[in-house]
Amino acid sequence: MSRYAHITGWGMTVPSRLVTNDDLAQMVDTTDEWIRERTGIRERHIAGGEDTTASLAVEAALKALRVANLNPDDLDLIIVSTSSPEHIFPATACLVQDRIGATKAGAFDLLAACSGFIYALNMATQAIRSGAIKNALVIGAETLSRITDWEDRNTCVLFGDGAGAFVLQAGEEPGGVISAVMRSDGSGSESLSVPAGGSRLPASPETLLHRQHYIHMKGREVFRFATRVMVQATKEAVDKADLTLDDIHLLIPHQANQRIIEAALRGLDIPMERCISNVERYGNTSTASIPIATCEAIQRGRLHGGDWVVFVGFGAGLTWGAAVVKWTGPFLPHRPIYPPSYRFWVRVRSRLLRLVRRIEGWIWGRK
Ligand code: ACO
Repeated sequence: MSRYAHITGWGMTVPSRLVTNDDLAQMVDTTDEWIRERTGIRERHIAGGEDTTASLAVEAALKALRVANLNPDDLDLIIVSTSSPEHIFPATACLVQDRIGATKAGAFDLLAACSGFIYALNMATQAIRSGAIKNALVIGAETLSRITDWEDRNTCVLFGDGAGAFVLQAGEEPGGVISAVMRSDGSGSESLSVPAGGSRLPASPETLLHRQHYIHMKGREVFRFATRVMVQATKEAVDKADLTLDDIHLLIPHQANQRIIEAALRGLDIPMERCISNVERYGNTSTASIPIATCEAIQRGRLHGGDWVVFVGFGAGLTWGAAVVKWTGPFLPHRPIYPPSYRFWVRVRSRLLRLVRRIEGWIWGRK
């Protein structure tokens, strides 16, 4: 019997701190007019002192679980797609697993930059469709502001922070993620990178001096690449699903730049009314942009059960991809998810496990 991977829950969050173009104009040599004309961005949310990639991911995840009416301990797998993980290791996904109390889930991070959410969605789908797992949580979460050079006007005007999450569940009814395309071209790795802080250029006074721990970007190169691959990937994924572009109710593209979105729509001959764009209010939240835009589409009544939707994205790597989804909605009837008592026991459990580890260390140290 065929199994399908349905999207049954969704959630998003952004930090409360809002940074407008005028705020940026006080930091670097730019203007509100330049940023709006070249990118379509007016404002973005930037992480404050308490926000981290994991804290944003947890909030989006809990919202998605509530929509799906699924408790964290029903999850088999958590994938966090991010380019701004809390650490090189442990994976941010493990921090999320602990904080939400997903006691039976495997957890790992996936790095495919802004295409990461599509990659993660496809990986979780394949795990469900193979029969290996039943329930997965896919999160796109970023605090790119922490690796943005706030003295570089070429990049600092573009990015914003936030997180979005989907719950995926196995079902026998046809629907959910029907096809996906994932592509990469490492020959373009220098178009968009954070050169230092990895194993090739470990942190050193020189790398700090040369600001190599920040995002470096060849904007025009990325722009040309993006407009080309968005069209290609969308067509390929739609073809793979045995559909035509006319069947697609809604296109939800990666929100990097309004001009890139408009160029892709022209290439696909799809009118703006069948596309979601919110780059104006969030900037480029990288891998979080597609789930955030999806949550807004649902809030605005633009996406309903049974609709065909295409997600398409591109990013550093270079990577790009698209997925075709028949939209579903929650499987289970409403029930209380993650009540305060559960939250309390999750914290107790985490502390107890830490304590056991310390006691073990103490006992072994005495031998
Ligand atoms: N304010 C004012 N002037 C600026 C600014 C700014 N913030 N930034 C650049 N400029 C200047 C440049 O210095 C340049 O001046 P010059 O001609 O004297 O050298 C001029 O504006 C034009 O620069 P261009 O790079 O040609 O501007 P363009 O129209 O290409 O827009 C942009 C730049 C917005 C970066 C565009 O190229 C773009 O959006 N590229 C794609 C970026 C992207 O999507 N990156 C994210 C990928 S996803 C991921 O994986 C994170």
